[in-house]
Amino acid sequence: MSDPFPSWMAALEKRHLARLTFPEVRRALQALSSLYVERRGRLARGAAFDGAGKRAAFALFYGPLHFLAVRAVVEALGAHQPPPTRILDLGCGTGAAGAAWAAAAGGAPPVEGVDRSAWAADEARFTFAALGLAGRSVRRGLEDAALPGRGGAIVAAFTVNELDVAGRERLRPRLLEAARAGAAVLVVEPIARRSAPWWEGWATAFREAGGRADEWRFPVQRPELVARLDRAAGLDHRELTARSLWLRR
Ligand SMILES: C[S@@+](CC[C@H](N)C(=O)[O-])C[C@H]1O[C@@H](n2cnc3c(N)ncnc32)[C@H](O)[C@@H]1O
Repeated sequence: MSDPFPSWMAALEKRHLARLTFPEVRRALQALSSLYVERRGRLARGAAFDGAGKRAAFALFYGPLHFLAVRAVVEALGAHQPPPTRILDLGCGTGAAGAAWAAAAGGAPPVEGVDRSAWAADEARFTFAALGLAGRSVRRGLEDAALPGRGGAIVAAFTVNELDVAGRERLRPRLLEAARAGAAVLVVEPIARRSAPWWEGWATAFREAGGRADEWRFPVQRPELVARLDRAAGLDHRELTARSLWLRR
């Protein structure tokens, strides 16, 4: 499979810049970034996607960066070999993480996205189609999603930190149980500037189950629009960083 990323990026620009101007997306990106950095409490109420500007900023900027980061993590871990039989993307947003894993694995694994946001579930469908992947997505809380067993894969990227404490505590044993049943499990989060107390507990649990916890830095060739938005919004993603939990038995 040739790299489907450039044509997805072109389709995203066409889709979102038809409705909004570059300065509108740049302003929305600044608002979205401040939500992620300073006002995380509002994320739990779905504030990240509450307006066309922020939705476009997420789709055009964070979606592609998350795709590139997750693809790099998947390749570094060897998670694409053998290709999973299917990939469940929990809190899929625009579908970037599941799509990145499927694309790294040669494009064959079908992706199922689950997200509580109707907009996100719809956008994920667009992503899978634009990348030439077999995919579907449903609007649902990830807490109750049925998890795949042997040969399947589960990714939760930039999502676990958005759950409340009870949601996280429910999810962790379910992921470990799915791994015991033969699924591959990948959790990706930003390298935190402030503490995420849950991370160490999860890292210990993954290690004890035979998995690993890593921090990553990757050089990245940002798409032209992402680089322009990065500069205009006063951000800096010239290097991709992430941390991951990985378990496949
Ligand atoms: C920061 S976004 C990350 C999206 C995507 N995984 C990515 O890597 O780009 C977090 C996503 O998790 C979703 N989310 C948060 N809590 C959720 C829950 N309890 N059930 C389902 N989706 C949830 C949000 O709607 C949002 O789309």
